[in-house]
Amino acid sequence: MTKKIILSGNRPTGRLHWGNYTGALENWIRLQDEYDCYFMVADWHVLTTALDKSHEIRDNSREMILDWLGAGLDPDRSVLFVQSAVKEHAELYLVACMLISMGRLERNPTFKEQVRDLDLAGEISFGHLGYPVLQAADILAYRAHAVPVGEDQLPHLELCREIARRFNHHFGELFPEPEGLVTKFGRFPGTDGRRMSKSLGNAVEIAAPPEEIRAKLKTAFTDPQRLRRSDPGNPDVCAVYTWYQKFLPDEVERTAAECRSAERGCVDCKKRLADGAIAYFEPLRERRAGYESHPNRVAEIVDAGCARARAVASETLARVRDAMGVG
Ligand code: TRP
Ligand code: SF4
Repeated sequence: MTKKIILSGNRPTGRLHWGNYTGALENWIRLQDEYDCYFMVADWHVLTTALDKSHEIRDNSREMILDWLGAGLDPDRSVLFVQSAVKEHAELYLVACMLISMGRLERNPTFKEQVRDLDLAGEISFGHLGYPVLQAADILAYRAHAVPVGEDQLPHLELCREIARRFNHHFGELFPEPEGLVTKFGRFPGTDGRRMSKSLGNAVEIAAPPEEIRAKLKTAFTDPQRLRRSDPGNPDVCAVYTWYQKFLPDEVERTAAECRSAERGCVDCKKRLADGAIAYFEPLRERRAGYESHPNRVAEIVDAGCARARAVASETLARVRDAMGVG
């Protein structure tokens, strides 16, 4: 029986953090058993909003791939590849551009939010508007059945489904309508209690060395009402407590009880959590370091992944051209 296909990807903006791990990567690792997986470095996508960062893309891609391998994406089971190395993405993007209206893209809620948040009004590129169209091409090139994404990506996936439907309607059934597989641990707090995000400066990297984890946790957000050591705390509003649920699940109940009764102080509580997080990520760090010291091996993995991706994507494009009667 052939497995169903999934595709997902990330823009290479640097090293991945705990939020990326719990929100996506960990899910991908699990899915490798069940699906034929394609994981893509979405390097072209960086240009849609950060043209000035183009010279960082190669380094960031390398760091991200090391994080992926360290975390447990397995190149023997999954195809790890780089978007720009598979030219069919650009070709299918061109086709997909004909299958969606301008109005539909302008109404995309993610786009509207970005225009507001990034203060981009008046400086929006055509490529930025087309971000989800390129994303649709990424998915459709592999005729993927499912896409593991965070909840924020669901509007993009809906657009992809519309493009697939439109193609199938005009040119005959070729594309499955991909489903979203949404991750449970969607919202993971950063050191300031807000959602962990690189741009907010509240992130802890999955490859962070122990000293850095300890230092970052020292200043982490706890219950703001708990001013003195003798005050009882409320773990439900504390970022550190949320991390316990991930890294030290066996200690969650005792932590809550000792926090509420003021038996435990925040300083000790964070130290314990730092130990837990360090132990949790140690095997990842080790595996990552192993790959880092063998750059040729990593290059081979990525080259082989790109070749496998290209084989599938070029088959799709041949069928697209054939169905459309082009070329
Ligand atoms: N938009 C995704 C993000 O910002 C990255 C991405 C590009 C992607 N192409 C994709 C995700 C295809 C899933 C499928 O994280
Ligand atoms: Fe948070 Fe622990 Fe302090 Fe309670 S004791 S507020 S759970 S850090």
